[in-house]
Amino acid sequence: METTKPLFQKYLLICENKRDEGQCCAPEGEKIRELLKDKIKALGLKSQVRVSRAGCLDVCKWGPNVLLMPDNVWFKEVHEKDIDAIIEKATTGLSKK
Ligand code: FES
Repeated sequence: METTKPLFQKYLLICENKRDEGQCCAPEGEKIRELLKDKIKALGLKSQVRVSRAGCLDVCKWGPNVLLMPDNVWFKEVHEKDIDAIIEKATTGLSKK
């Protein structure tokens, strides 16, 4: 095995786990991922910020959950109104077009 540096400068990981019962991040997680992805694309930052779905992050009661790496920032109870704030945090210091 070899190691290498990550391909992207930032990663936004959005829980989209679905459960038949109890708390989970779906279906809001999917909508949040789509909105984040659209914003990153519109800003011309697709090559710098990777927006990816994740499985359960083990804090279902806080869902929907979004994790920003490598900043190690956790966004909990995320709603559509929070998208711009997450984008701002994720893209601070990156070169926007
Ligand atoms: S279902 Fe999203 S953290 Fe568990």
